[in-house]
Amino acid sequence: MKGILLAGGSGTRLYPMTLAVSKQLLPVYDKPMIYYPLTTLMLAGIRDIMIIATPADMPQFQRLLGDGSQFGVTFSYRVQPNPDGIAQAFLIAGDWLAGHPCALALGDNLIFADHLSVLLRAAARRPRGATVFAYQVRDPERYGVVTFDEDGRALGVEEKPENPTSNWAVTGLYFYDDRVYDFAQQVQPSPRGELEITDLNRFYLEEGSLHVDRLGRGCAWLDAGLPESLLQASQFVHTIQARQGMLVGSPAEVAFRLGHITADQLRRHAEKMKKTELGRLLLELSSAGHGGHAL
Ligand code: DAU
Repeated sequence: MKGILLAGGSGTRLYPMTLAVSKQLLPVYDKPMIYYPLTTLMLAGIRDIMIIATPADMPQFQRLLGDGSQFGVTFSYRVQPNPDGIAQAFLIAGDWLAGHPCALALGDNLIFADHLSVLLRAAARRPRGATVFAYQVRDPERYGVVTFDEDGRALGVEEKPENPTSNWAVTGLYFYDDRVYDFAQQVQPSPRGELEITDLNRFYLEEGSLHVDRLGRGCAWLDAGLPESLLQASQFVHTIQARQGMLVGSPAEVAFRLGHITADQLRRHAEKMKKTELGRLLLELSSAGHGGHAL
């Protein structure tokens, strides 16, 4: 399975912070925001990843992430000239996808849960259909919303409904089978002029192949698209890291634990940031030699 990290958009809800810098490069505590969804894709077992960004922001993403070898993965880059909708990602990536199944992670979404990789790998392994994750929120009108029947089966999905019929929001992490490009080609622009990811999901829902995994209490889903949610995300990461001494959203740690990079490679990466707590934790990990352990 391939993966797309979508990091375009204009970030207007974070002005003036995003007037000169891409939203997905802003810090969430001690790392650039894009590290978090990147780590999520890696935890799903994905190593071939396309990063989509605006033409203006692309050089900074390339400077930050390079070819992916530091994390034992491969990055490709493509621009999205205008923010014409999330589902456009599959059209932009069409020839690169070459009929492969694909996961899509929004560059401003952070998911944190125990045993997350088990959940993600199960979604990545499903041979047919699509998998999305639903999370209960107090403000469902800001999101794609899913409603369920009495047996817990998904009945409908709606984008930012004025009067939500449930408080289950669809998170910004999607897994699709090898038909995603064909379905994406059929999505028509919505009244706001975007190719909506919710319309793509509806194709799967209507043929009965949309799996909706509900994330429960033991899971945190944060999107960092507003000043307040950006602060909450930073506080969350800081709280876990300070309390437990465990890293949240470190692609280098995940790469090492999954055996994508050696202790030596991790140490060289960490040396560059040894003045930081993050660097020190990575250095400790490289000398403790916990590579290959399950996450
Ligand atoms: O965060 C989850 C939600 O993300 C879902 O519940 C919604 O169904 C989905 O539409 C989306 O809603 P948002 O209002 O958060 O979408 P937004 O326009 O903010 O875009 C989300 C991210 O995708 C953002 O980081 C920018 C990026 N993006 C967006 C568009 C429309 C692009 O890179 N290109 C685009 O064309």
